[in-house]
Amino acid sequence: MEIKKVMVIGAGQMGGGIAQVSAQAGFDVVQYDINMDLVNKGIALINKNLSRDVEKGKRTEAEKAEILGRIKPSVSLEDAADCDLVVEAIVENFDIKKKVFEELDRIAPAHAILATNTSSLPITQIAACTKRPQQVIGMHFMNPVPVMKLVEIIRGLATTDEVYKTIEEASIKMGKVPVWCKDVPGFVSNRVLQVMINEALWELYEGVAPAENIDNIMKLGMNHPMGPCALADLIGLDTVLAILNVMYTGYGDPKYRPSPLLKQYVQAGWLGRKVGKGIFDYK
Ligand code: CAA
Ligand code: NAD
Repeated sequence: MEIKKVMVIGAGQMGGGIAQVSAQAGFDVVQYDINMDLVNKGIALINKNLSRDVEKGKRTEAEKAEILGRIKPSVSLEDAADCDLVVEAIVENFDIKKKVFEELDRIAPAHAILATNTSSLPITQIAACTKRPQQVIGMHFMNPVPVMKLVEIIRGLATTDEVYKTIEEASIKMGKVPVWCKDVPGFVSNRVLQVMINEALWELYEGVAPAENIDNIMKLGMNHPMGPCALADLIGLDTVLAILNVMYTGYGDPKYRPSPLLKQYVQAGWLGRKVGKGIFDYK
């Protein structure tokens, strides 16, 4: 199946990035969020990323204008009616995603693929919210999307080979390297990554070392590009907590039990870089 038009649901840090790489791949893009302020904020960030590329000589002003020209803002899910692929990137919450998938299943044309950028939720369970589980798939981009090469691809129980192949090809067109894994809570990426981040948050809770030291130890000692505390702030502490909870309940294993400090930060609204404060202060 040929993908021509892509709708991205959610203009947050992931949705905006997915809209950018989709437009860069030459697809027509609809960027949706629940209100126009959020859509405009997402598109402004794409504009900023592309301007940085122009300043660095990576692309021309004309190319930037062409990419931006392919992105249409939207606050109506009805705009999925003529799309070939919908990529959902809203909050990591099954009940909220369920409502959106039910709506998208009603609106999107019969041939359309419904993909989710979920970090941890079972693809099979999301697919079961629709009458087209064979056309639902996990398309898990990494943050920041324009930079990171990986797309982790996860098939639900019913996902067809053709849908898998189409998504693999679309990912390559977006300049990414697709790597598949099975449909388990947290997939491969977050089963490994979030256990490390959570351990750093337990260390912080126990006063083993300040956040700066934890990060420096992992950066200087393990050559990580950023430490686990800064990375948790980049991902968003609400998202980190949601992923850990999915794995904690999904496996029933205490190794995924979220640090109490992580819960407290989320309760305080200290969600990380996206709000200007998390483990570190960004204001
Ligand atoms: N958007 C677009 N481009 C960005 C960016 C952003 N938010 N942040 C950085 N960049 C670009 C810069 O413009 C720069 O581009 P050039 O190479 O063209 O100059 C490049 O990335 C490197 O940036 P910097 O020199 O400013 O900084 P850096 O070298 O420290 O790199 C980083 C920044 C790429 C974020 C790097 O620190 C890194 O790789 N961190 C780890 C990121 C990571 O692990 N991501 C996965 C998170 S987990 C996930 O996504 C899955 C999940 O489900 C939670
Ligand atoms: P975010 O909080 O930055 O953005 C979420 C956006 O979705 C918001 O703008 C919100 O308004 C919007 N949205 C649209 N429809 C919505 C609805 N019906 N209900 C609630 N919100 C709605 O989140 P994010 O970091 O972009 O994460 C989005 C998804 O991508 C999550 O499933 C997350 O697990 C996944 N993900 C996140 C990362 C990361 O590093 N942050 C990496 C990979 C995958």
